[in-house]
Amino acid sequence: MSGLKKFEEILITLPVWVLIVFWFLGTPNLCVAYNQINPLVYDEQLLWVSGGAGQVSAYRIPILTFTPKGSLLAFSEARKGSSSDYGAKFIAVRRSTDRGATWSPTSFIVDDGILEDGLNLGSVVVDKDTGSVLLLYSLCFHRYHCSPSSTMLVESMDDGLSWSRPRNLSVQLGVQSFAPGPGYGIQKRYPPAVGRLVVCGHGSIDGDGVFCVLSDDHGKTWTNGAALKSIPFNQHKLELDFNPDECQPVEMEDGSIIINVRNQYNYHCRCRIVVRSTDGGRSLPLEELTFDHTLVDPVVAAGALQKEGIMYFTNPANDHERINLTLRWSLSNGTSWEKDVVQIWPGPSGYSALTSLTGSHPEDRKFIYLVYEKGHKSYVETISFAKIHLYGGI
Ligand SMILES: *[C@@H]1O[C@H](CO)[C@@H](O)[C@H](O)[C@H]1NC(C)=O
Ligand SMILES: *[C@@H]1O[C@H](CO)[C@@H](O)[C@H](O)[C@H]1NC(C)=O
Ligand SMILES: *[C@@H]1O[C@H](CO)[C@@H](O)[C@H](O)[C@H]1NC(C)=O
Repeated sequence: MSGLKKFEEILITLPVWVLIVFWFLGTPNLCVAYNQINPLVYDEQLLWVSGGAGQVSAYRIPILTFTPKGSLLAFSEARKGSSSDYGAKFIAVRRSTDRGATWSPTSFIVDDGILEDGLNLGSVVVDKDTGSVLLLYSLCFHRYHCSPSSTMLVESMDDGLSWSRPRNLSVQLGVQSFAPGPGYGIQKRYPPAVGRLVVCGHGSIDGDGVFCVLSDDHGKTWTNGAALKSIPFNQHKLELDFNPDECQPVEMEDGSIIINVRNQYNYHCRCRIVVRSTDGGRSLPLEELTFDHTLVDPVVAAGALQKEGIMYFTNPANDHERINLTLRWSLSNGTSWEKDVVQIWPGPSGYSALTSLTGSHPEDRKFIYLVYEKGHKSYVETISFAKIHLYGGI
């Protein structure tokens, strides 16, 4: 009797044991799954299509940001007359409050009016202390049929719904040509200079190079920071000259800023220039400059992002053509890249930009978000948004 009773007890408690065993086995597996980066394109949709109806002939230069409230904002240049870099444009924005599932209709938040050499995007930076989203862009950057060039700023205090009138930062910064981004600027989280806004971009056509502008008062006043000048500076360039161009800064956990840079004339390699600032964007010493031979590049603006100790990078991974948009990731602060890559789109693909949400929602750890120029015959055809699951959809 007592033997049978014991047996019954074992039977009754068996499911508990099974659960406990699964719990012990399951927990380490879950941990492994969350350390194992295995990106999967989870959702993709077109945000803008060029050549459609209306006043816009082409959409280009997509940039993307999170907001402090957990929304996503995508911006692009809506080029009125042609797909060329010159000419009149709007800044187009779409907003998503559900992690990229649905998007607001396009609104045009800036119209450059009648300028011959209109506006160029741009760098978006979020100030987490004030909750504001600041968008910097240039006017008359190419000084084609107008002069001087101006660096402009519009700001939203209500999660991207409404935008201030443009403010002219050239009054503080001077009137040199400066094209922020394209991509995002950073707010320093780690010392030195916690809270500083750092926006990097490239300079005028001949006096080119990477330049950063800084604000230590939440975007009220701006000063010129680091400069990595081209050689020969302020002179006409030849193929293979040193000409650091469009760029994306990311802050590392040690407080340094790594800037991933377009190598305009393929100096040293057909690959990305990487340069590091250890003083909060005040300087970019040559000692901190490297060429990343893994990041083969056709001379383009690329996406970079640092999330939870892992660095992500997107570009059209081809040494001559803007095709083959590829996502890479690095577990070593960008000093090496994992052998596995994810091909996002094999065909024509151009500029790209990355962001991620950093709130407390469980989804915010799992996803990064990408916008990129995508087409079948030409990368100018559409701007696509991709939601990327970092852990294979688990
Ligand atoms: C911006 O300010 C600079 C310096 O004062 C000025 O030269 C330029 O014309 C201004 N740009 C615009 C669009 O008002
Ligand atoms: C696409 O990128 C991958 C990863 O770098 C590379 O192995 C492949 O050769 C590229 N293909 C083309 C056509 O560029
Ligand atoms: C990356 O940088 C962080 C912060 O400086 C450091 O703790 C970590 O060891 C670095 N990782 C590698 C693989 O070098």
